[in-house]
Formats: sequence, C-alpha cells, structure tokens
Amino acid sequence: MTAAASNAPVVRVALLGAGTVGSALIDLLRSRAAQLEVQSGARIELGGIAVADLSRARAAHVPAELLTTDGTGLVTDPAIDLVVELIGGVEPAGSLVTAALEAGKPVVTANKALLASARGVALRTLARDRGVDLLYEASVAGAVPLVRVLRESLTGERIRRVMGIVNGTTNFILTRMSEQGVDYGEALAEAQALGLAERDPSADVDGFDAAAKAAILAGVAFGYDMVIDDVEREGITGIEPADIQFAARSGYVVKPLAIVEVGDDGQLAARVHPAMLPTAHLLAGVREACNAVFIEGEAAGEVMLYGQGAGGAPTASAVLGDLIDATRNVRAGTTAPVPDRLPVRLYPSSELRSPCYVRIDVDDEPGVLGQVTRTFGDHTVSIRSMEQDAQAGGARLLFVTHAARWTEVQRTVEALAALEPVRRIGGAIRIVDGPESFGTAVPVGGSAR
Ligand SMILES: NC(=O)c1ccc[n+]([C@@H]2O[C@H](COP(=O)([O-])OP(=O)(O)OC[C@H]3O[C@@H](n4cnc5c(N)ncnc54)[C@H](OP(=O)(O)O)[C@@H]3O)[C@@H](O)[C@H]2O)c1
Repeated sequence: MTAAASNAPVVRVALLGAGTVGSALIDLLRSRAAQLEVQSGARIELGGIAVADLSRARAAHVPAELLTTDGTGLVTDPAIDLVVELIGGVEPAGSLVTAALEAGKPVVTANKALLASARGVALRTLARDRGVDLLYEASVAGAVPLVRVLRESLTGERIRRVMGIVNGTTNFILTRMSEQGVDYGEALAEAQALGLAERDPSADVDGFDAAAKAAILAGVAFGYDMVIDDVEREGITGIEPADIQFAARSGYVVKPLAIVEVGDDGQLAARVHPAMLPTAHLLAGVREACNAVFIEGEAAGEVMLYGQGAGGAPTASAVLGDLIDATRNVRAGTTAPVPDRLPVRLYPSSELRSPCYVRIDVDDEPGVLGQVTRTFGDHTVSIRSMEQDAQAGGARLLFVTHAARWTEVQRTVEALAALEPVRRIGGAIRIVDGPESFGTAVPVGGSAR
C-alpha cells in the first residue's frame, strides 16, 4: 500500500484471504487511502496478506511482495495491529482469529460459517473477555447494514421479529421462476452461468447459508447465542412452476425467507424456508439476487434494510466500514459496544402456526376428495380453500389451510401420501402474513367426486 505523506499514525493490517472479497478490499484500501485516513485518523496499511497458494494468478492491484502462506506468523507478528479474516469456513479461520484475539488484536470478519458455529460463540466470548473488537457487519447480507443498525440504532427497541431474504442465489432462482416461468433446473443453471451459484449449489439451495445468517441475526437482534443447528431449515429444491403459478394468481409470491422471532416468554424460534408472501409485502418486491431484512419492533414499527447481499465490492465495502471502526477504536483505546449474550432458549419453529398451501395429484375416482379432506380433518388441519385442476387421467388439488402447526401439516402430508388414490404430493409451503380471504377458491366439497 503506498503511504500518503502525512504524520498520521499507522495502523498495520493483516489480511487473511485475497479471493473475491479480499481482493476487492485491497482495491478499496488503495483507491480510498486519503479518504480512509481522514475517516479513521490513521494511515491504514497492509502489513501482509495470507493466501493458500502463492503460485495462483492474481489481479495486478494485489501486492505480490506482501503474500504469505504463513497465516499464524502474520497474525502474531508484533508489527500487526489489526486482522481482517476473509478466508471463510471454520478452519483454519477459527484458529487464526483466536490467535489474533489472544494477542489483543481486533478482528474484522465476513465469515458466517465461523460465526454461526460453536467456535463463533467462543470467539465472541474471547473478544469480550479480552476487550478486543470482533466485528462482522459483512457476514449476514453483504453491503446491507444490519449488525450496526441492530446493535446501535435499534438497541433500545424491543424487536419481535426479524424476517429476511439473506441468500441472493435462492432469491434469484425464485425470481426467475416467478417472472419467466422457467422451472427450478433452468433457473439454477442460469444462476450458475452467471456465477451466482456454485457448481454444488447445496449450501444455498438447501438453506445452510441462510440458516447460518439467521443464527447470527438472532444473536444481534435478540442477544441470544445461537448456532446454525438451532435453525430449522428447508430448501427451495421442491418448488415447482405449479406452486409459483398458484401463488401468483392468489396474490402471493414465493420467497426464500429466514425468520427469527421471539415469543412472550423470551423463547426464540428460528427457521429458513420458502414461503408465500402477499405481493403487497415489502419483501415481495426484493428481486433477483438482492437481499433485504424486515425488522418488526414494538415501538419502532417496521424497518426494512435493502441492498446487495454479496459480491466482492459490496461485501468489501461493509468490511471496510468495520475496519474504519476498529481502527478508530484502536486509536481511542476503546471497543464497539458488545451487549451480554444469553444462552438461547429455543421454541421449535415447526410448532408455529401459519396458513399453508398443499398441492396433491390424485387419481380421478369417486370419493377421493372426501378421503383427502377427511385426512386433513383427522390431523386438526382445517381447510380454508381448495382449487381443482383436471390433469391427464387425474386431478390436481390445491389446498390452502387455516393457520395450522407445521408439524400437523407435515403429518397430514405423510398420511395423504399413504392414500391409495394419491399419486404425488407436490409442494407444501407456509404462508407468511397471508390475508384471510384467498383468491379463487372452490368451497371444500363443492365439486364432490
Ligand atoms: N463472496 C461473497 O460474495 C461474500 C459475501 C459475503 C460474505 N462472504 C464471506 O467472505 C469470506 C471470503 O469469501 P470469498 O468469496 O472472498 O472467498 P474466496 O474467493 O474463496 O477466497 C478465499 C481466500 O482465502 C485464501 N485461503 C484459503 N485457505 C487459506 C489458508 N489455509 N490460509 C490462508 N489463506 C487461505 C484463498 O487463497 P488463494 O487465493 O491462494 O486460493 C483465497 O484468497 C467468506 O467467509 C465468505 O463467507 C463472501
């Protein structure tokens, strides 16, 4: 990093990782050096960059002379004041962050996998005990400012629910399915061609990425230490065009949601799943790979934060904000506020009640509808509306239930699958904030067979 001719004190940064985000951060540090010096009161200089492979070809702005594969040596070097971890994953990132914090060096990270693990809980405790910053604004929704807003601006608020679209890949896929009528496979292939989805897309489409982010959000919004395994998770791979079409003609849009909410007794329920949202809901308009988080507070009401949830430059921008904060704090001998965390008391999300949509393909035989509706009733799931479409040699039944426990809906679906005339159970999707009256319903029993 070229040093400006100034008398400002120097803060030396170890950068761990020079991939998509690390490389973008190096670029921002270089192009904004003068501005950063004014904002942070110090000259932020790179003291070294740890990577896995020294022989890898890199962008011209990545200074080759600073590269090393010795991450531990770099973070423990007495010349280093501050560490930015952009390797990802639990190890070796966890050990390197531990080494930095134990040496009293503030750490900035974007690593959701680490933060949402038991290791992450231990690292937050270590940082607090040592009085050192551990900042992670970029870990949930890239450039969307969330952590600082929740931790500082809304710190006096009693938050009831945080509901977000925090995975851009799945939002892109569902947006394409909704707006272009393509199926899941075609939308995924397009996301992969655009670099929005990995060759193995499981982390995104099976909900792991969003679950890690939900766990981090639970900590920041509600003050509970939550890990990824505390989050109930369902992916988007079962969504079919028929579900999307039903949602569209019924005033809904299917979105990949992460939801954390608190009950009156302080228990937390956290879940990730595709959901039908009314088209009038603010999150329904969050399209393509964008992210947004919708916060419902008792006094503040509804607050929504929206923006680019991933990508090198947007994520590096959030990292840079933390880096400036940490630099200011190092100079002032202070740290960012870290409220005490409580051990989480979980409420099973599957016990929460919501209206649900269920799609069933059946043989076209007399008495089938009666069997199907009785099965809903046997599981205390009451039906709000039903549509029936003719299929080749059969019928498609599309139900919307009144608010019901998700466990009961799942048991209903299992029991339906065991009925002889049922060919296939398609989607079963929760409806979030659905209105009571629902589209073009056929009264139950109205087309009795
Ligand atoms: N990409 C995004 O849009 C995005 C958005 C939000 C948050 N994040 C988070 O940001 C972090 C970085 O993501 P990324 O996309 O930049 O990852 P990436 O492109 O895969 O880069 C990872 C970097 O870590 C280096 N590395 C791997 N193992 C290492 C080791 N043992 N020691 C030292 N360096 C090692 C790699 O070195 P080589 O270059 O030699 O391979 C590479 O430079 C992750 O925690 C990710 O979850 C990313």
